[in-house]
Amino acid sequence: MEKKVSRIGVLTSGGDSPGMNAAIRAVVRTGIYNDLEVYGIMRGFQGLLENDIYKMESRSVANIIQRGGTILKTARCKDFFKPEGRKKAYDVLVKRGINGLVVIGGDGSFRGAVDFSNEYNIPVIGIAGTIDKDIYGTDFTIGFDTAVNTAVEAIDKIRDTADAHDRLFIIEVMGREAGFIALHSGIATGAENILVPERKTNLEDIINSLQEKERRKKLVNIIVVAEGDENGGATNIAALIKERLPLIEARVCILGHIQRGGAPSCLDRLIASRMGYHAVECLVEGRYNVFVGIQHNKMNYVPLEKVSKKRGTISEEWMKIVKILAS
Ligand code: F6P
Repeated sequence: MEKKVSRIGVLTSGGDSPGMNAAIRAVVRTGIYNDLEVYGIMRGFQGLLENDIYKMESRSVANIIQRGGTILKTARCKDFFKPEGRKKAYDVLVKRGINGLVVIGGDGSFRGAVDFSNEYNIPVIGIAGTIDKDIYGTDFTIGFDTAVNTAVEAIDKIRDTADAHDRLFIIEVMGREAGFIALHSGIATGAENILVPERKTNLEDIINSLQEKERRKKLVNIIVVAEGDENGGATNIAALIKERLPLIEARVCILGHIQRGGAPSCLDRLIASRMGYHAVECLVEGRYNVFVGIQHNKMNYVPLEKVSKKRGTISEEWMKIVKILAS
């Protein structure tokens, strides 16, 4: 593994996130600046298995920093989680002479990458590209800021109509296993309740608070729920509330994949550029198999293995703030 990296591959894997293009651009241009050859691997690990790889030049990443999605496309590749799949990937890398990888994705992608680098001694650097923000070792993940702002804009609009009709709205945001989008968008829009997969949902508390608010004629209520809530998302929550409070005027809105698209925010472009730059610097300097995060506005390099086993967590302080502010 200690031999010098000269030809690197970059791929995006898992759910796309706004800002991935900015990260690809930074990897390509920093690589070229350091006299490396840079190869774009299409559709994540799937494209690696299939040798769907092309050489990138500085111009290949022109005019993409402002675009959502990923020019390299992405996939969730089941075969890469099998030893035979990883062997195939290794053979492709050897054939192409690629001796370093930058993986832009979420925790699932890092798990595959760690197994790969352990088995085949290929240096891998991880960058967190996920709207879910559930990655250990970083205050930011690429795409979260854009996604949460998309959710905030939508929820603000819903509050206007909820207020006009004195209605309860249950709004579902993304997050199959993580509640950061629900937490941040809920706090930022003054939601009365925020339900996240990381905490047990107490339906009794919600019913009580709705009844208490009804007594003081506060009929506009917003509940923001992450799709991975134990009760199964907004539609189920609405049905459970209706069972207990049949007269309540309730509507459901599922924001869905619009949260994953759109032009990346300035913050997402900046962190993607910074992480992409440092990922290549790591390969150049021989700092292998690390995850490049940002904590307290400083680069944080964590062994990729550690990041793939841990998760970002929601603090008790945030949950307390939610409770106090949503009265
Ligand atoms: O990218 C992460 C994520 O957006 C989760 O929040 C969500 O549950 C999942 O991806 C949806 O994935 P897909 O688009 O494959 O249905």
